[in-house]
Order: sequence, then C-alpha cells, then structure tokens
Amino acid sequence: MNAKVLELPLPPALPGLGDWEQRVRLMVRPRRYEHVRRVAQLAYQIALSNGLSFSEANAAYTAGILHDIARDLPDSELLRLAPAECDIDLRHPLALHGRAGRTLLEHWGYHDQQVLEAIEDHTTGPRAGHQISACVYIADVSEPGRGVNDDIRELALSDLSSALNRAIVSKVTYLQGRDLPVHPRTLKRFEALPKPPASLILTPLPHAEE
Ligand SMILES: [Fe+2]
Ligand SMILES: [Fe+2]
Repeated sequence: MNAKVLELPLPPALPGLGDWEQRVRLMVRPRRYEHVRRVAQLAYQIALSNGLSFSEANAAYTAGILHDIARDLPDSELLRLAPAECDIDLRHPLALHGRAGRTLLEHWGYHDQQVLEAIEDHTTGPRAGHQISACVYIADVSEPGRGVNDDIRELALSDLSSALNRAIVSKVTYLQGRDLPVHPRTLKRFEALPKPPASLILTPLPHAEE
C-alpha cells in the first residue's frame, strides 16, 4: 500500500450503505470485494484532495463500493441487463458490467443518479465534467492492489483532471497500438479531450480487468 494513500482520511460509516455493501459481498468473489473496498477508499481520498465536498466524496465512496456489483455475472446475464450497443459489447460482454450494474441497482430500488452514472461509466470513461465518475474511474485503474498506474494515482491526488486525461489517452493509445478495438463510448471521451502534450502519453495501461 502506498504510504501517501495511508495518510489520507477514511470516510465515516455512511447510513444505509451497509445493506448495499452486503449485496456486493454476496455478488462478487472475495478478491474482488477487497478491490472494491480499496477503490472506494481511494475514490473518497481523490475527491477530498481535489476540493470536492464531503457529500460528493461520500458519493464517490459509495460508487466505489458498488461499481463492480455485476462484474462476476455470466456473459448471458450481462447482455440481458445491458443489451449490446455495438460489436465490442457483443464480442466482449465483460465491458457491459458497468451498465449492467446500474440496471441491477435501479431494479433493486437504488436511485442516486450521481452514483449510478459513476457505476455505469467506470468501464468506458466518465462523461465530461462528472467529477464523481472521474474519481471512481481513476481509483479503479490505479488502486494500490492493481500494482500498476502508481503515477496516475499520485497525479490524481493533486490534479484529477490531468490524471483522467492521462488515463484515457494511455488506454486508447495502448489499444490502438495493438490494433485492438476501442469502445465507442471511450473513443467519444478521448475525442472530447483537449489535445494532450506528449508528456501525457506515458503509461501503457493494462486493462485486462476493469
Ligand atoms: Fe473495479
Ligand atoms: Fe469494473
């Protein structure tokens, strides 16, 4: 665990989250549950260190806990919950687990739209200007248990916007450099970014598991 992360604050117990967290614990493998707890903690810390309010940081923490709720469902269930929008979705249904997680939570009565958007977008990239989604996206790709993207995590703790640009540019560059398809939603985020300086294109992001 990165020392800087350990120095940062933890969120208070959030009313009502315990029952939802218990559902996550039942839905995902034990190692995944440890991952979601690290993502939640880091998303909260990124939010606070970038000047977001405690309310927004709590939403980032909540989305971190819930973001992978559909991650261990079979492909057939992912496609049922989140019908394919493109060829990539059909060929790689795992990419649907963000949208599927949102559908599942809505079906169960969860309705915080900021949290739901962060969950939906964590696989393909946050919509422009959605700070809570950005916190969760960055925390997901850089939480210390991943063992990669330490530079993005460090950058996010002081400059979320630059970290997000770097993460998306790196992901698209990595995929395109290997002739792998880029999800249309990710490409849309990428094309909306200001043209980055070459210094941003540094990190080959391994995104085997999102
Ligand atoms: Fe995740
Ligand atoms: Fe995920």
